[in-house]
Amino acid sequence: MIDNLGKLRADALAQLAPIWDEAALEEWRVKYLGRKGAVSASMEQLGALPKEERGAVGKLANETKNELEAAYATKVGAMKQRALSESLEAEPLDVTLPGRPVLRGRLHPATANLREIYRIWGDMGFQIFRSRQVESDEMNFQLLNIPPNHPARDNWSTFYVADTEQRVLLRTHTSPGQIRAMRQLSQGGTQPVRVILPGMCYRYEQISARYEIQFNQVEGLAVGRNVTFADLKGTLTEFARRMFGERPVRFYGDHFPFTEPSAQMDVQCIICDGAGCAMCKYTGFLEILGAGMVHPQVLRNGGYDPAEWSGFAFGMGPERIAILKHGIEDIRYFWANDLRFLEQF
Ligand code: FA5
Repeated sequence: MIDNLGKLRADALAQLAPIWDEAALEEWRVKYLGRKGAVSASMEQLGALPKEERGAVGKLANETKNELEAAYATKVGAMKQRALSESLEAEPLDVTLPGRPVLRGRLHPATANLREIYRIWGDMGFQIFRSRQVESDEMNFQLLNIPPNHPARDNWSTFYVADTEQRVLLRTHTSPGQIRAMRQLSQGGTQPVRVILPGMCYRYEQISARYEIQFNQVEGLAVGRNVTFADLKGTLTEFARRMFGERPVRFYGDHFPFTEPSAQMDVQCIICDGAGCAMCKYTGFLEILGAGMVHPQVLRNGGYDPAEWSGFAFGMGPERIAILKHGIEDIRYFWANDLRFLEQF
């Protein structure tokens, strides 16, 4: 029996060596390793052996089986490798063909636009102050002179998150950051602040080409001992010059409960250069921000004594600015994640 197994092994390996096609290999496998193959047959004969021989022969039978299985696996690998080399030889690679283009990621247009705005304000000496997106009713409204049931609340349709005593909400504008910045940076109302407060705001709006339910704002705040409306006009005019180039701007009276006096700033229409078009509703100008002198009560809420300190604040909508700058017809493109739009920037 031991001799038989030795012969079986030697024959099987000798027959396997010259095989290089799949049908012959499969035939070999069935003949030796199949369910009714030679190895199984010799295993079956083990039972007929005298008890003393069974152990040694069984071990050898198992070793033979393992060895043939390993040889089979090696052969399968070798055949695959040979097939690959043959096909490469038959159809050589053309290394001069252009490669597959690698898709490069790039900044989202809203991010690129925000960074441009940060850069301009940074150059003008304004630091970025990050304020929270989930706010209390007190910060978002009351400390900005908008008590409960004040009609100005209609301007900021609000998503409330939790109707607890604090009335937690998603901030409707970046202005609550004014209070937080004054409280955190002014060292008890003794130091000036000059910051921009960028970030996402949320409003319960009817979504349209110019209104989204989420959009960025960039708030600005400058408080000092002698800040005047002339500083507000000069600083914002310089911002517009750096953002839009040499273009006329104009200021209009406006109203916000947290600034007094308040103004809106328009820039000459980028599409028609002031001649009048659909984008500027034939006025020749486009509104880009709201602003004003910080209301004395808001200064007080931030920790300053309004008899000694004054400041200006503004709030702009960067997506609206990007729309104007690039002639984008619809604000909804910003968050729709359509590559056909995003890849244009
Ligand atoms: C405000 O939110 C004031 N907090 C701005 C301010 C700050 C005034 C400091 C004075 C001092 P307003 O609601 O107008 O104002 O919004 C400011 C800008 O945010 C708008 O000019 C517009 O560009 C943008 N904005 C407002 N609502 C939306 C909206 N639904 N979708 C996209 N942009 C919007």
